[in-house]
Amino acid sequence: MSAESLRGIRLGIVGTGVMAEAMLAGLLERDLVAASNVVCTHPRAQRRELLAATHHVNVAALNLEATKDTDVVLLGVKPQMLAGVMAELRGSLHPAQLVISIIAGATTTALGEGLDHPAVVRCMPNTPAQIGRGVTVWFATKSVDEVGKARTRAMLTALGREFEVHDERQVAMATAVSGTGPTYIFLFIEALTDAAVHLGFPRHVARELVLDTMQGSAEFALQSGKHVAELRDMVTSPGGTSAEALYQLERGGLRTVVSDAVWAAFERTLRIEATLEQRAPDAATPARQRTSRPART
Ligand SMILES: NC(=O)c1ccc[n+]([C@@H]2O[C@H](COP(=O)([O-])OP(=O)(O)OC[C@H]3O[C@@H](n4cnc5c(N)ncnc54)[C@H](OP(=O)(O)O)[C@@H]3O)[C@@H](O)[C@H]2O)c1
Repeated sequence: MSAESLRGIRLGIVGTGVMAEAMLAGLLERDLVAASNVVCTHPRAQRRELLAATHHVNVAALNLEATKDTDVVLLGVKPQMLAGVMAELRGSLHPAQLVISIIAGATTTALGEGLDHPAVVRCMPNTPAQIGRGVTVWFATKSVDEVGKARTRAMLTALGREFEVHDERQVAMATAVSGTGPTYIFLFIEALTDAAVHLGFPRHVARELVLDTMQGSAEFALQSGKHVAELRDMVTSPGGTSAEALYQLERGGLRTVVSDAVWAAFERTLRIEATLEQRAPDAATPARQRTSRPART
């Protein structure tokens, strides 16, 4: 289904940075699109030369080249560049074209109005996409037909797993969970590695131990299908080492800190959404009421 849906498509990429290049590389590796059918725009000549040399795609300085004779236009710029880019592209898209955005906080309302184009998919990928092990949550407007959705699924498969949601708010939620998630995991990896070094392990050994433990635990949880609390209980012997360590993690407020961090990332996403839609942040969703809870002491 997926490979077929992309057969012969012409793809324009605006803002070919880290994430958009990961997507491009995945599509080319899997022969889902032909390099000759891709045009990547970038303001810097050095970056354009690198993209052309690495992926053998067409490159252009002018963003409008990405909307000219293409079927899908991928937007990969940073949120602060979006207004300028939309002003450049406005009026250049025809109704059959599909716009796929990976820009954090850019709602389909902001994109649809800014581009004057209704067929928009808003995606939230994450950085493991660079090795094809990412997870992307996406939402399509009503104007995106089944062909557009099939193309979206096929393109996102190049980054790893994909989940379509039918409530756009869940893309903002995913921004705080899976989009920003690798940052939390990397910090935990660093903390556990430092703790292992503190115990006396050489850093290279500590790193391997921690990464293998993280990877093995995640795969074990996925394969077993069990609730993670059950897996944790299985290794928590009465009066044992796990019980001792868990007590300290709970005492330090690990769960609350994680919850606060995710809420903060979610609220930040809502503020970016409001800015890009050019409305006051207070007009955002009821979830923002969570900010009024008492500060942790
Ligand atoms: N990285 C993540 O974990 C992640 C996860 C989910 C979603 N996202 C979203 O993905 C988007 C890209 O993130 P990224 O990490 O790939 O950032 P990035 O590497 O900075 O990519 C953006 C690219 O756009 C280029 N650019 C700047 N101004 C432009 C313009 N006017 N026209 C066309 N291109 C322009 C930048 O050039 P310069 O190099 O010269 O600045 C850069 O190469 C962001 O909106 C982000 O919210 C990122």
